[in-house]
Amino acid sequence: MEYFYLPKGFLWGAATSANQVEGAWNEDGKGMSIADCEQYQPQIDVTDYQKVNDMTTQKILTAIKDQSSRKWGKRHGVDFYHYYEKDLELLAQTGIKAIRTSIAWSRIFPNGDDTNPNKQGLEFYDRLFRKMHEVRIQPIITLSHYEMPLNLVMNYDAWYDPKLIDYFYRFAKTVIDRYHNQVKYWIPINEIDSIIRHPYSSAGLVKDRFPNKNFQEVIYQAMHYQFVASAKITKYIHQNYSDLQVGGMITSTMVYPYNSDPRNALAATEIMRESYLFSDVQIRGKYPNALFNKIKNLGLNIKMTQDELKLLSQNTADFVAFSYYSSVCAAYDTSNLQVTKANRTTGVYNKYLPENEWGWQIDPIGLRLTLINLYDRYQKPLFIVENGLGATDHLTPDGRVHDDYRIAFLKEHIREMLISLANDGIELIGYLIWGTTDMVSASTTQMSKRYGLIYVDLDDEGKGTNRRFIKDSFYWYQKLLHFGQKIP
Ligand code: BG6
Repeated sequence: MEYFYLPKGFLWGAATSANQVEGAWNEDGKGMSIADCEQYQPQIDVTDYQKVNDMTTQKILTAIKDQSSRKWGKRHGVDFYHYYEKDLELLAQTGIKAIRTSIAWSRIFPNGDDTNPNKQGLEFYDRLFRKMHEVRIQPIITLSHYEMPLNLVMNYDAWYDPKLIDYFYRFAKTVIDRYHNQVKYWIPINEIDSIIRHPYSSAGLVKDRFPNKNFQEVIYQAMHYQFVASAKITKYIHQNYSDLQVGGMITSTMVYPYNSDPRNALAATEIMRESYLFSDVQIRGKYPNALFNKIKNLGLNIKMTQDELKLLSQNTADFVAFSYYSSVCAAYDTSNLQVTKANRTTGVYNKYLPENEWGWQIDPIGLRLTLINLYDRYQKPLFIVENGLGATDHLTPDGRVHDDYRIAFLKEHIREMLISLANDGIELIGYLIWGTTDMVSASTTQMSKRYGLIYVDLDDEGKGTNRRFIKDSFYWYQKLLHFGQKIP
């Protein structure tokens, strides 16, 4: 399959998020966000997600006191706030048509509960979108990508508090009204299912702030409010801007049974169903019955009103957005089986697949299976809004980065996507590589876990020149896009 045909208007692009690239964490009125409290911890195994995800009030207070920047990776990012023009000009040379990024909530509403937006914050995105327009790159916007204003964590109960629905809605409305002419595709919440895997960074939930509560109940309650907020935003967009589209986004980690033992098949199905819960609510507008059984069986008390459930059912998303990085296996008894890592989760190792340096197994066919499964389930357009390889890259003395491993990863995944498009009857809006420039890793806060098409000279401690260098994968993507219809 070397020659291919794409649907009209197919969006080739790249993706990032504000908190991982922008930096400028305390400039022009920006408030502190949850991401500004995350730090690379060299003393722990960065793929020990339980430790990595563990945030405490004490750690946040320490972070608030320490006003330095370099130590806290997401405070400086790659200084996209000041480099955006140059970065966009470079990225435009690949021929990409779209870049997905987020609008940092704490740049627009520094405390989250402010009555009026921060003018300087808005002016940054005015400039950013103007520049994107100039270089003919369409912005695709995530409204919440792990960037909650810290005030909402420390003085409210983050997403556990229903007030967050109104605060998030106010923020969303402000930017949708301002940018509806520039932004067609909106994703209210990045990987909404990540509240289960890392409740602090995705939803601001710090376990020790709920000493007398069942934390699982807290998570499910907060999840419900996130869905309600997303549905309110979807409703607002559909009622006011009929040409815009809303995506419901999930993390798609493909799960296989470890072998043909039906008990392992059941284990895999159960994990997949938990993940589908998050797309079901956003796309079908309805919680799966299994969730209500689970809530009942665990004796959880989750507040959901009839009006809220009606809102969910009447305001569903237009497309299914998903990230895809890897797959895992599942087994009913994992005690003697080798563990593998995936996107802030673990699973059973798959002996048929290679893995990246962080133990995520590389599985291009898993992408095709994801496309098939999601399309068969919802019959709605799909959008691959993240797919990429985290790797240690080496800058050569002549300023080159020979990332043939990343090219191989992209080539194989794109090939499976194209095979799926040609055969499986799916609808696909576009494909976005995770990684515009390098950025600070979401899970590990490392700079050395690099995804970009453009290398940024910074290390895990934020030291370096911040200069940009084009990687070989950039030229490969450029070739694919410019000479089209043939995989280079
Ligand atoms: C996705 C997130 O889950 O995975 C991104 O939306 C993140 O923010 C990406 O960067 C890769 O994960 P990591 O932890 O390797 O940066």
